[in-house]
Amino acid sequence: MTALSATRMAKADAAAAADAARVLAAGGLVAFPTETVYGLGADATSGPAVARLYDAKGRPAFNPLIAHVADIADAERLARFDADAARLAKDFWPGPLTLVLPKAAGCPVAELAMAGLDTIAVRVPAHEVARDILAAFGKPVVAPSANRSGHVSPTCAEHVAADLAGRIDLIVDGGATPVGVESTIVACLGEPVLLRPGGLPRAAIERSLGRSLADPAPARDTAGPIAPGMLATHYAPRTRLRLNALRVAAGEALLAFGPLPAEGAERAACVLNLSARGDLVEAAANLFAHLRALDAAGTATIAVMPIPGDGLGEAINDRLERAAAR
Ligand code: TXA
Ligand code: MG
Repeated sequence: MTALSATRMAKADAAAAADAARVLAAGGLVAFPTETVYGLGADATSGPAVARLYDAKGRPAFNPLIAHVADIADAERLARFDADAARLAKDFWPGPLTLVLPKAAGCPVAELAMAGLDTIAVRVPAHEVARDILAAFGKPVVAPSANRSGHVSPTCAEHVAADLAGRIDLIVDGGATPVGVESTIVACLGEPVLLRPGGLPRAAIERSLGRSLADPAPARDTAGPIAPGMLATHYAPRTRLRLNALRVAAGEALLAFGPLPAEGAERAACVLNLSARGDLVEAAANLFAHLRALDAAGTATIAVMPIPGDGLGEAINDRLERAAAR
């Protein structure tokens, strides 16, 4: 993982919000309270910052993240709201509701944060500390729950420190979070669908909409009920992927990794390198944008050079395997 100095802990106040904004602007990681649970924040517009965040959480795969913004106007720069989404935002923001919406044209959030999807999860948190940090930073902040992957969501600063001390830059301590469970997630991509029950009850949402919420269709790769983290379909390019490619056939697109070219790389129709210096954090930040660009090149296959499986390499390979298997 990325080398980080000791994690600082700060009591929530105006100075801590300014401190948090400085750390975020420098590409660092800040844990802060929301009304639901503590989030681990990074600059949503920076691919490298988002990659560092996945690294710190130890996520075995890139789950798409929630972009946190200060108000509806900021959310409208990231996502397209239909009438249902606009009603829910008006009735429940700021608050423990996340909306999954079509990504807006020109959305500045890094591709990695959406794990390559065309949809984006957005929320306006109600907690004063979260709002102060968003106001001080002035840009969207992606924040998954501030726990190591596979652990439960933290509801106080001590839980965050127990999981992430030494892996993140700053923890802003605002005491225990009032709601204690994660936000309710509703997709408005057509008929509204409840993706994750959470801090805002289903009945309140159904009252606001004037009808019932649909339940999600089962995810393609799970047999049982949908668990959090399994909510999203996976990024799938149109072009076939050929993984662990050591040599390139004429006319293939090449997704390279590291300083050494694959055999026959000069025959490739186009080449993009995830990280010429072989850095997995840089590679993660480039993954979805490079895949999209090569997919658009219109070749029959994309040859992908082997990616080491350590650190973020596990998540990169997970995503590449899913994209290749579809
Ligand atoms: O209360 C909360 O929502 C907290 C606080 C910190 O805001 N955050 C949180 O984030 O719970 P996280 O990353 O632990 O959970 C976000 C969930 C994941 O299950 C993810 O799969 C889903 O949201 N998600 C994100 N983007 C999505 C998308 N475009 N489509 C479907 N699901 C999505
Ligand atoms: Mg979580």
